[in-house]
Amino acid sequence: MNIKLILIVVLIIALGGFFLFKTNNGGKTMAGVNDNKKVLVAYFSRTGEQYSVGNITEGNTAIIAKIIAEKTGGDLFEIKVVNDNYPKGYNELTEYAKKELQQGARPEIIAKVDDFSQYDTVFIGFPVWWGDKPVPVYTFMESYDFNGKSIAPFCTHEGSGFCGTQGMDKTGAKVLKGLAMYGHVAQNDKAQAEKLVSDWLKDLGY
Ligand SMILES: Cc1cc2nc3c(=O)[nH]c(=O)nc-3n(C[C@H](O)[C@H](O)[C@H](O)COP(=O)(O)O)c2cc1C
Repeated sequence: MNIKLILIVVLIIALGGFFLFKTNNGGKTMAGVNDNKKVLVAYFSRTGEQYSVGNITEGNTAIIAKIIAEKTGGDLFEIKVVNDNYPKGYNELTEYAKKELQQGARPEIIAKVDDFSQYDTVFIGFPVWWGDKPVPVYTFMESYDFNGKSIAPFCTHEGSGFCGTQGMDKTGAKVLKGLAMYGHVAQNDKAQAEKLVSDWLKDLGY
């Protein structure tokens, strides 16, 4: 066999293998199952004095949200309240947040997401506050039509772990497996935070 013939045979085998793989995956490669899905990464996060990390200028959850947006190509949306009276001191903030939660407050959010209907998957991120979500996250979830969409929840915490999907199941969305990460890991160990996010995204098909 001359060299040209050998090359042609190798090419045919390689192409055959590729098409067989595509067929077995319903026409999609594993890494590409979410290729055409539009992603929104919405998050709530605080700067100032936080448990275990001291005074921070970028919130723990914000750091994770940005990693997710970068890895999925999603659009970022920060959930910010119109009247931001959240104290910058940790103890004061915990007292303030406890009252808001007890009152079932729904503070108004500054901006609206542009054309929410374009998104297939909405990542929703928040710090665990009193074993629950900060109330602006409830305002966010109650402000949009999630029917037909998926929600991928993520949170940072300092020991509680994932706070559950309260409120998310009521939106009509399919709730995907969540990610819970220690706030101090998000803040102080970028490599570990990136790895945890990557592993989770892989599980979700990204
Ligand atoms: C008001 C408040 C309540 C908190 N409640 C909890 C809690 O119940 N469980 C927990 O593990 N961490 C709790 N934490 C710690 C935060 O979840 C953690 O520091 C988080 O990473 C902060 O994220 P952020 O910087 O994005 O706001 C609380 C912090 C605050 C300020």
